[in-house]
Amino acid sequence: MRSLAVSLAASLLANVANASPTKKATAPFLTSIGNQTWVIGNDVWNMTQGPQFGVKLYYKDHDCVGDAWGHYVSYNGAADNLVWTSASIVKNGKYKGVPFIDIQFTSDVGDMHWVIFEGQHGAYQYFVNHNLPTLGEFRTLWRLDNTTFPKGRTVDKDGTLPPLSDYIAANKVQDETWLAPDGKGYITKYDWASWVREQDYYGVYGDEFGSWYINPGKDYYNGNQLKQELMVHRESSTGDAVQLNMVHGTHFMVSSADVFPDGKMWGPWLWYLNDGSKPDAAARAKEEFAAWPYAWLDDEAYHARGKVSGRLVLSDGRPAAGAAVFLGDDEPTKTALDMGSTYYYTTYADERGNFEFADVRAATYGLQAWSHGGEIADVSTSLLHNGVAVATGKTTRLGTLAWAVSNRTRLFQVGDFDRYSYGFLYGGAPRQHALVASCPADLVYRVGTSKTADWCFGQTYQGNWTIEFEVAEDPAAAPARQPNLIVSLAGYSSGASSTVWANGHVIGNMTSGSPELQNDPCLYRSATAAGEWRLLEFQFDQSVLQKGLNTVTFQMTRNTTWHGFMWDSIILEW
Ligand SMILES: *[C@@H]1O[C@H](CO)[C@@H](O)[C@H](O)[C@H]1NC(C)=O
Ligand SMILES: *[C@@H]1O[C@H](CO)[C@@H](O)[C@H](O)[C@H]1NC(C)=O
Ligand SMILES: *[C@@H]1O[C@H](CO)[C@@H](O)[C@H](O)[C@H]1NC(C)=O
Ligand SMILES: *[C@@H]1O[C@H](CO)[C@@H](O)[C@H](O)[C@H]1NC(C)=O
Ligand SMILES: *[C@@H]1O[C@H](CO)[C@@H](O)[C@H](O)[C@H]1NC(C)=O
Ligand SMILES: *[C@@H]1O[C@H](CO)[C@@H](O)[C@H](O)[C@H]1NC(C)=O
Ligand SMILES: *[C@@H]1O[C@H](CO)[C@@H](O)[C@H](O)[C@H]1NC(C)=O
Repeated sequence: MRSLAVSLAASLLANVANASPTKKATAPFLTSIGNQTWVIGNDVWNMTQGPQFGVKLYYKDHDCVGDAWGHYVSYNGAADNLVWTSASIVKNGKYKGVPFIDIQFTSDVGDMHWVIFEGQHGAYQYFVNHNLPTLGEFRTLWRLDNTTFPKGRTVDKDGTLPPLSDYIAANKVQDETWLAPDGKGYITKYDWASWVREQDYYGVYGDEFGSWYINPGKDYYNGNQLKQELMVHRESSTGDAVQLNMVHGTHFMVSSADVFPDGKMWGPWLWYLNDGSKPDAAARAKEEFAAWPYAWLDDEAYHARGKVSGRLVLSDGRPAAGAAVFLGDDEPTKTALDMGSTYYYTTYADERGNFEFADVRAATYGLQAWSHGGEIADVSTSLLHNGVAVATGKTTRLGTLAWAVSNRTRLFQVGDFDRYSYGFLYGGAPRQHALVASCPADLVYRVGTSKTADWCFGQTYQGNWTIEFEVAEDPAAAPARQPNLIVSLAGYSSGASSTVWANGHVIGNMTSGSPELQNDPCLYRSATAAGEWRLLEFQFDQSVLQKGLNTVTFQMTRNTTWHGFMWDSIILEW
């Protein structure tokens, strides 16, 4: 793998080779042209930065912004665009022989940095908080010329963005969602969402130009492995090609309202320009991931990092093979998905339950682990281990962590316990609007004969979804038993309520608006695998059960179009 410096030097050489004898100096620059307006760039590209918008993005003598809005930074949707009051070069550096400048644009809430190397196609960017309010959504983005950038690419979707002409006002069905003009299916920006922590590179591109985000590290994002966000889309009122960098987002969550310490840093990530080649962007992403954390960044706190290692063993003796492992807030008051004030780390255990986190910022964390399916798809409990102190240059060895699993006898399990709808009908299908409408109103699942895919990923219609199962023992002869129905939801969109029955007895309810059933938008925003995970448990008397055939029924009594329950797993144990 080529190093960062080698690739920079290579692109620089390529530049020099193509340069005409009259070409100006290659040094990256910041020029003020008055009235809160500056030009930044190098001899490969340049951009005119106004008080809010960065426009006239020249690359290969072509204006890549054109009539689009250009580059800006905002929070709480488009409500608050940051206004740049001054700009200066805060560092003139050299990394492996290649000169660079770090340009800081200041606003009343924080500073946006552009780090531009000589000969670089694009720039590194990072943002340092000083005074952002408590918020859910914070992003940087490009709105680019839509003829130059007709297509979008994420790790799980690649293709032409639907044309603005397909967004017909009369066909609008909800927030940013339209019935397609041919009447078949829908068009929505949510189809272009993806898993934040799985991206190698993503962006917009065409036959001659590509504009990409490469975000190695990812510790500055909010949330855990299940964090999803918007990535690219067609702006539905102007037609701009949008390349979003949702560094703190809320789109598939119950809530996200974080307070940020002064100095919280998002990035650096690389904004990369090329000729539209995906293999080239992929190769560049590999180099960037290998080069993270970035040695050229002069910031003590950024480089103050250590390691954490350990082994997860279940109380039944099995290793927690493949478990999802997360380093988040110590003594947490929020779900792992909703955390977002500081820095967060994700990994998976190996088949022996071993895990390791490298390059963790020095601080104290709470470690969480949960089943990611596979060999431990039966495990319904999670692990929380607080007080994980990480010190610079040190490895924190946690040794063997004991993870208590349930000791009750299992009567049935429908679906893997992994916080996703995978395995059920349509679970994890390509993102699309209203897929849940294809699930039936009534469904019977017979334990022992039905397959996992006979259960649908989401329930949105009034009706009964029933699980039939056999009990071999006579419950009357087993008075010490305590049945417990575990309902693990991969997500839930409010406005749907159900009564939970066992053999015709009400054993509980799943009621919209209750503390554990607040809205996440997964089911009506094209998500098919997950939204925000919920764990519900219903204990009931063993006399409700009988020897032979028994039933558990989820009777939906209140429904709202495209809202409802997205299933992960249903377990009955006693
Ligand atoms: C300075 O910028 C402001 C805001 O963009 C604009 O309204 C004003 O006309 C500009 N003045 C000059 C002299 O360009
Ligand atoms: C920006 O790029 C354009 C197009 O290549 C060029 O004409 C212009 O001189 C550049 N601006 C600066 C300040 O270098
Ligand atoms: C590109 O944007 C223009 C408006 O600037 C719009 O008229 C046009 O339909 C858009 N093109 C596509 C393919 O959406
Ligand atoms: C199950 O039993 C083991 C061994 O006694 C114990 O360590 C574990 O905590 C128990 N699990 C639960 C969930 O109580
Ligand atoms: C609610 O469910 C009923 C019965 O399945 C169905 O006929 C009706 O269309 C649903 N209503 C909505 C708003 O989805
Ligand atoms: C749904 O299930 C409940 C509980 O078993 C039952 O009372 C109700 O009659 C069922 N509804 C239909 C339409 O079968
Ligand atoms: C749902 O169950 C809870 C706990 O048993 C109970 O307090 C609540 O009243 C029930 N709600 C409905 C709508 O039945």
